[in-house]
Amino acid sequence: MKNLNSINLDNKYIWHPYTQHKISPTPIRIVSGNMTKLKDDKGKTYIDLISSWWVNTHGHCHPYISKAIYKQSKKLEQVVFGGFTHDPAITLSKKIIKILPKKLKKVFFSDNGSTAVEVALKIAYQYWINKKKKKKTFIAFKNAYHGDTVGAMSLSSGSELFSVFKELFFKIKLFNYPSTWYGDREIDEKENLILNKIENEFKRNKDIAGLIIEPLIQGSGGMNICRKEFMKKLSNIVKKYNNLLIYDEVMTGFGRTGEIFACKKIKSEPDIICLSKGLTGGFLPLSLTVTTNKIYNSFLGHDFDKALAHGHSFTANPLGCAASIASLSLFESKKVLKNIKFIEKEHYSFSKKLLKLSFIEKIRICGTVLAFEVKGFGAGYKAVLPNKIKKFFLKKGLLLRPLGNVIYLMPPYCILKKELKYAYKIIYEGLEKIK
Ligand SMILES: Cc1ncc(COP(=O)(O)O)c(C=O)c1O
Repeated sequence: MKNLNSINLDNKYIWHPYTQHKISPTPIRIVSGNMTKLKDDKGKTYIDLISSWWVNTHGHCHPYISKAIYKQSKKLEQVVFGGFTHDPAITLSKKIIKILPKKLKKVFFSDNGSTAVEVALKIAYQYWINKKKKKKTFIAFKNAYHGDTVGAMSLSSGSELFSVFKELFFKIKLFNYPSTWYGDREIDEKENLILNKIENEFKRNKDIAGLIIEPLIQGSGGMNICRKEFMKKLSNIVKKYNNLLIYDEVMTGFGRTGEIFACKKIKSEPDIICLSKGLTGGFLPLSLTVTTNKIYNSFLGHDFDKALAHGHSFTANPLGCAASIASLSLFESKKVLKNIKFIEKEHYSFSKKLLKLSFIEKIRICGTVLAFEVKGFGAGYKAVLPNKIKKFFLKKGLLLRPLGNVIYLMPPYCILKKELKYAYKIIYEGLEKIK
């Protein structure tokens, strides 16, 4: 297909996600991927510094995962998961339960991060009903992002992103997320205030069905990072009131925070965890909502009434499971976790350089994520960095996608030292252009 032709056809037929087509530049046509690199139809390569919307953990087209998918595709590509099962789903569930906190024992499959959250929401809500204690209010955090389906959007209603849909949302209780950064002197005070408010809410409100949080890093809300001490105290409060703690680890899962899961780093055991994105190494859409035996057992009964009315056509797709098994095996080699530590260390060195730029603020790092804010262009989703810096990054072969005035890096774990050094150099040059 000729380049020009194919881009015209894209324009003719395709409606892209999160895109204002009237003003957006023509999309770049990517023809291949190889580890950290993506190649466009003109032969130009880009270092994928955002792991293609945070899914790609081991690099593009990792041969080990490709092979596992191919092998599985010759054996069984798909089968209905109601009343039937298959080895890839069983093996994956066993593997995932082994590395999750001990309390988490039952795996429910779906296809993407938003549905993993919808499932968590439905499980938490019905858990109380099954126990004959109706509760319907969820606690969530300002700037949280839990996905684009209506339930997940309701939980994200503290974000400006979905204001157009707000009349469709169910009500939630919102609290501040105690974001912190280098040199933040008010963090203890901020955290205590939030924890007190949340504890008071649990004390006085008997309608709370669960608390959902992106542990350690709020992704789409601007790569806001909170301390593990806060997370631990928060989890103790939820436990003290015998309520349900839901960790949305759709983004933080699979190494992003420096440990395989954020909950492991915090040393806290949620009642429900949502996983997706890096689950398949970024190859195929798949997600898991994993919960405790206590919750699962409350759904058991002699008729359908107590059962969970949820399922998708592609639930536990065998190819997705095969990709996930392969991706998890790569983590077992230890090399990957070592690379994650290496990326974090490199981020720290670069952040020292960033500290020298007076128009950069709120520098924060957690695992493979480095984020900072550029002053003078507003804040939040509506902030827009000058186009010239975005164009500059692309021209120099960096795939970055700032969130408002927040520039962040979240590379695949296979990134090489020389690639990281190059990225830092170009980012620094780009920043100097807009100061
Ligand atoms: C924390 C979190 N939860 C849920 C989602 C939704 O995942 P998906 O885009 O796969 O529906 C995302 C996506 O960015 C996310 O970051």
